[in-house]
Order: sequence, then structure tokens, then C-alpha cells
Amino acid sequence: MFYGRCHDGSRCGATGNAGRQVVNELLALGQRVRAVTRNAAESHLPAQVEVVEGDLTRPETIPFDGVTAVHMLTNAGADYAELLSGPDLVKQAEEAGVRRITVLWSGHRSAMEEAVTASSLEWTVLRPVDFMSNALVWAESVRVKGEVREPFAYARSALVHEGDIGAVAAAVLVRGGHGGRTYTLTGPESLSVPEQVAALSAAVGREIRYVEQSEAEARAEMLAAGRPAEVVDVLLGWKRDMPAEGYTVVSTVEDVLGRPARSFALWAREHAGRFISGAGTR
Ligand SMILES: NC(=O)c1ccc[n+]([C@@H]2O[C@H](COP(=O)([O-])OP(=O)(O)OC[C@H]3O[C@@H](n4cnc5c(N)ncnc54)[C@H](OP(=O)(O)O)[C@@H]3O)[C@@H](O)[C@H]2O)c1
Repeated sequence: MFYGRCHDGSRCGATGNAGRQVVNELLALGQRVRAVTRNAAESHLPAQVEVVEGDLTRPETIPFDGVTAVHMLTNAGADYAELLSGPDLVKQAEEAGVRRITVLWSGHRSAMEEAVTASSLEWTVLRPVDFMSNALVWAESVRVKGEVREPFAYARSALVHEGDIGAVAAAVLVRGGHGGRTYTLTGPESLSVPEQVAALSAAVGREIRYVEQSEAEARAEMLAAGRPAEVVDVLLGWKRDMPAEGYTVVSTVEDVLGRPARSFALWAREHAGRFISGAGTR
């Protein structure tokens, strides 16, 4: 996905947990938005967004014409494979006259991040720790069984609200002044899974059980759900031996936006319907 201001003042955007928020925040800042998606019919983006079909793995399909600012992914596709087209996409962006770019970190130094930070663009790397929206993976289990099954009860994460990722990206792209910086993005507190489950229980108004899985059980479930083994290794390794960056709260969101980062309790209230039986899944 990517975003940018077109010759007539529009910006480009997309459909995911984070991307959708970037689009909304750019609109809120009065920008016009162009969104790139592989399936325009399923994009469900606001009517004022210019939705174009493109595939980041095929740079020739990405229209940078007239774009002045871009938000870029580092991983793409159903298996979150690393996007190897970074150098070509960045070159195209430079040639088209793009001035600013934010790039979403994905847990390691990627080819896309290398290309962006070596470019002539005014770049900013955004390093969100775990998204609060990762909790949506528990929605079905909560609706059906009233429980959350996860390993590593001890592990804490400084989860960030995806709306704050979008707001920071939009502020950086629109206002500038953040070139050459790498920003770790966290929420206002570090929470364990049992603490997140307690917040969800409060939001839905009934008790949700936390069941601690073994690592082997979690691995088997993720593989059975079709996740590639190397992705499972990375995800479980991150949770088991989380680096300090993953659980240390930083003030970047407030520094950039001038207001506090949003809490998981708020996220849980916003998404409570997804965890309530009979309330639907969207
Ligand atoms: N979840 C976390 O805790 C976390 C933490 C740090 C970083 N991240 C990174 O954040 C990124 C976004 O996460 P998310 O939760 O927002 O993802 P998501 O909801 O799964 O959305 C993925 C987005 O990528 C787009 N996309 C995928 N492949 C594409 C391609 N080949 N061409 C064009 N667009 C493509 C999808 O667009 P269409 O399907 O509409 O084409 C969709 O908008 C991930 O790649 C991840 O590496 C995540």
C-alpha cells in the first residue's frame, strides 16, 4: 500500500489495519488520497479516496505520477513475505518527484527500508511495536468459547493503537520536519496478554478466560492456520524473548501529535462488538 499527494493535491493509500488508518488521518488533515490495493472492489475505503489497483511486487503497476508523499509497506502478500521490489519502487518514486516517504518497519532491516533510507527522499522509518489490532485474532475464540489461548503469560508488550500509527504517518507526510528519523511507536503502557484479556472482559461486559498455551501448541495452531514456518518462528521468537524495544513505553506518539497515545482499554471499547457473540465479524 502507499500514499502520496498527487498533482491535484491528492494522496495515495490502502486497506489494512494500519493503512486504512493512514488514509483516514490524511483525509482528516484535508488531504486528497489515492489508495493502492490489489482488489479495488473489496477495498471498502471512503468514497472520496481515489482507489487504484496495483501490486507492490510489480512496480510497473504502481502509479506515482504527481505524488509528493508516500507511505510504504515492507512486507506484502498473504504470507507477509518481504517486499523485494523496494529499490525499484523507491527509484520510481524519486523519478516521479515524490518528496516524502514513511516506511513501516516489519521487525527487521528490510530491503525496502534499506532502499528508502539510502534514497534522496525525506524519509522517516516508523517502527510500531505490536499493533493493538493483533487482538482481533482472538475474536472468534472469545465469541464462541469465551476464551483467549496464547503462550507466554509473562510477556509484556507496549502495544500501539493502529490509529496512532496512522496519525503519526499522516502528520509526518503532511507537515514534514521528521526527515532522517526512525521512530519507535508504542502505546501508553506495557501489558501482558492476561492484562489485555482483562481489558477486553471489561469492554464486552463479561468474563473472558485466559488459557496459557505451551509454545508447541501455539506453533501447531499457527502452522495449521497456514502460516509459513519461518513467519511462525519470528512471531513466537518475538513473543518469547521480546527485546526491550517491544515492552518499553516511549513518548513518540505524544511528541509528534501533541496528545497522549491511545490506550488498549479504549481500543477494546472501540472493538467490543467484534468479541460479542451475534454481533458479526466486521
Ligand atoms: N501487526 C503488528 O503487530 C506489526 C508490528 C510491526 C509492523 N507490522 C507491519 O505492518 C504491516 C501492516 O500490517 P497490517 O496489520 O496493517 O496488515 P494487514 O491488515 O494484513 O494489511 C496488509 C495491507 O498490505 C496490502 N498489500 C499486501 N500485499 C500487497 C501487494 N503485493 N501490493 C499492494 N498492497 C499489498 C494489503 O492491500 P490489499 O489486500 O488491499 O491489496 C493491505 O492493505 C505488516 O506488513 C507488518 O509487517 C505489523
